[in-house]
Amino acid sequence: MSYSLLPIESLLKLIASDIEKCAIAADSIAQCDHFYSEISKAYTYPLQAGGKRIRPLLTLLCAGALGGSEALEVAQKSALAIEKIHTYSLVHDDLPCMDNDDLRRGLPTTHKVYGEAKALLVGDALLTEAFSLLAKTVWHKNQNALYLSHLIEDLAEGAGASGMIWGQWLDISLTGATHVTWEQMECVHKNKTGKLLGSCLALGGICGISTWEQTISQQDLYSFRKKMKEAGVFIGLSFQIRDDILDATKTNEELGKTAGKDEIQNKFTAVKLLGIEKAEEMSLFYTEKSINLLNEIFSHPFLKTLNKDHSHYQKLLISQIKQLLSREN
Ligand code: IPE
Ligand code: IPE
Ligand code: MG
Ligand code: MG
Ligand code: MG
Repeated sequence: MSYSLLPIESLLKLIASDIEKCAIAADSIAQCDHFYSEISKAYTYPLQAGGKRIRPLLTLLCAGALGGSEALEVAQKSALAIEKIHTYSLVHDDLPCMDNDDLRRGLPTTHKVYGEAKALLVGDALLTEAFSLLAKTVWHKNQNALYLSHLIEDLAEGAGASGMIWGQWLDISLTGATHVTWEQMECVHKNKTGKLLGSCLALGGICGISTWEQTISQQDLYSFRKKMKEAGVFIGLSFQIRDDILDATKTNEELGKTAGKDEIQNKFTAVKLLGIEKAEEMSLFYTEKSINLLNEIFSHPFLKTLNKDHSHYQKLLISQIKQLLSREN
């Protein structure tokens, strides 16, 4: 890859080409060919169905915002890993035992095509392969062991039992409840959606920082990661409120997933608790919080010592975050 400044369209093409190349590399024997072909198709089915690719895009932009174009290459595996985790979360979220959805990314859900048990396995495979991808990160310099451990830690934190899984657990537990407070709702949104977005920013940030010539202290690195995760959580809070608004206001065709599903399932959502107008205000509030925090990160004195101008990706990152507020699906 050349180290020229890339626009959003080129980053999306990079992501699309990585997703296009995804494949299963299991051993197989002639008698199993049919099943091997089935798992291969099933594994790529939800991934290649489409999707906005917001998470890998934010990961790459954050890498660029801290490390410039050379950091994009380092962050490519992380970006793909996060899209795999996100896709697994959708496959499982759609299962009959969870949201019981038939439509996802404009196509029948994975369990509608391959059955519940195999959809469960597709999700498990995507989750596991994501961590294998992190291990294959191509580092720009030779400090991989330390940075790799941070990638693993921050992805597991966002996706696991103190992040997305906890949020999904709460979501299910509160479905059909007679009363839910806004604080409880925020806790659901923060965890089910915000924490993985926190991982996007943290992993991108770590990859960006890994390219620096200057040595950063463990304490400063920890503080960068922490702030990146916080900024990502704010994006997630805004993102999930918008998702709730879209669910209540758009059609199946517009969303590529079942519209009006939250009402049917008696879910507590930002729209139900606040109404659309107030929910939009809250979405804007969290977007602004994320942008303020990112601007604080980008003006950290350490960045000045690098003598590098990463403003291209910093601006793209901020403008992408703003655009999420008015997204239509
Ligand atoms: C859907 O995420 C699930 C939520 C966390 C709201 P996206 O809206 O990013 O879905 P895709 O990736 O574009 O399909
Ligand atoms: C799901 O939230 C968040 C995940 C962790 C997958 P939703 O259940 O609202 O997502 P959609 O509306 O089905 O995409
Ligand atoms: Mg759900
Ligand atoms: Mg759902
Ligand atoms: Mg939803």
